[in-house]
Amino acid sequence: MAGRHKGIFHARTATCTFVLSAFLTLQLSGSALADEQSWLPPGSATEMRRNPPAELIRSGTVQDDKWQFGRLLFRSPSILGEKAVRIGLSCNSCHTNGHVNSDFFISGLSDRPGRVDVTHRFWQAGFDDGVSNPLDIPSLRGSRDNAPYGSAKIFPNLASFTNHVIVTEFAGPKPSKRILEALIVYMESLDSGGSAQEVNASEISYLPLLLSPLETKNLEELDELYELIRSDYGRRAAKEGGSIENFRRNVVMLGEIRKKAAAGDFAAAITGYQNLVEAQ
Ligand code: HEC
Repeated sequence: MAGRHKGIFHARTATCTFVLSAFLTLQLSGSALADEQSWLPPGSATEMRRNPPAELIRSGTVQDDKWQFGRLLFRSPSILGEKAVRIGLSCNSCHTNGHVNSDFFISGLSDRPGRVDVTHRFWQAGFDDGVSNPLDIPSLRGSRDNAPYGSAKIFPNLASFTNHVIVTEFAGPKPSKRILEALIVYMESLDSGGSAQEVNASEISYLPLLLSPLETKNLEELDELYELIRSDYGRRAAKEGGSIENFRRNVVMLGEIRKKAAAGDFAAAITGYQNLVEAQ
């Protein structure tokens, strides 16, 4: 009798754990999915699910803070503004790993996969050239040497074109000099030439970026990074699934660092940072 009860109890616990973890998964990955479905026409696909292209960079590229920051920004919808955040769209959605998302398709804006109209009013009211003109999404490999940029309007360098992409095409917030510079450093490293090397994404951690603002007590920069890294954890949890608990723990630890810094206790914030790095 007692044994039977015990059995039932265990079965219930197991069910609860299962339901709970399914619920957590839904909260993180499901919210992105629900958003995508409610803001994009049915049949649209903005993420490359199978065989994304290799991320190739010029050999000898130093993957310093600026490069890492640029790489993070390239994958962050928030730099493209509110609409992009709702549908989870970043530079990387179209120019996946600096190359082309050949699956990219938005009904009404694409005539076939890998093509999209970036001058359509879907992106923002006020900048619609009135014609349906989907273009091939170009690879950014070697784009450092491709000046001038753009088809409808021509820009002399990557910085002015990127500013145009963010502000005019996607109605995003005007990028700071710091953001623009980092994006350019990252884009200029993309290359498919003979000696190009492949980035090993699993070796990349954006956490070391936190150290400089912690040491210089720059709260504004810390806040900016906090938001970007937190969303990156969210994207990775949605994509990789599995050990969602680790991502949740990381986000909590990240929040603690920010809280300590905001309260002026930078020594505690740096200890929190070290603990977070060790927990990876
Ligand atoms: C919705 C898909 C989409 C997104 C998102 C997107 N792009 Fe593009 N990108 C395009 C298309 C299409 C073109 C071709 C446009 C043209 O020729 O005017 C292009 C062109 C470019 C070029 C010119 C390349 C060349 O060699 O001429 C650069 C540089 C570029 N994008 C950078 C970016 C950056 C940086 C972001 C994020 C801030 C971004 N793109 C976001 C679709 C996209």
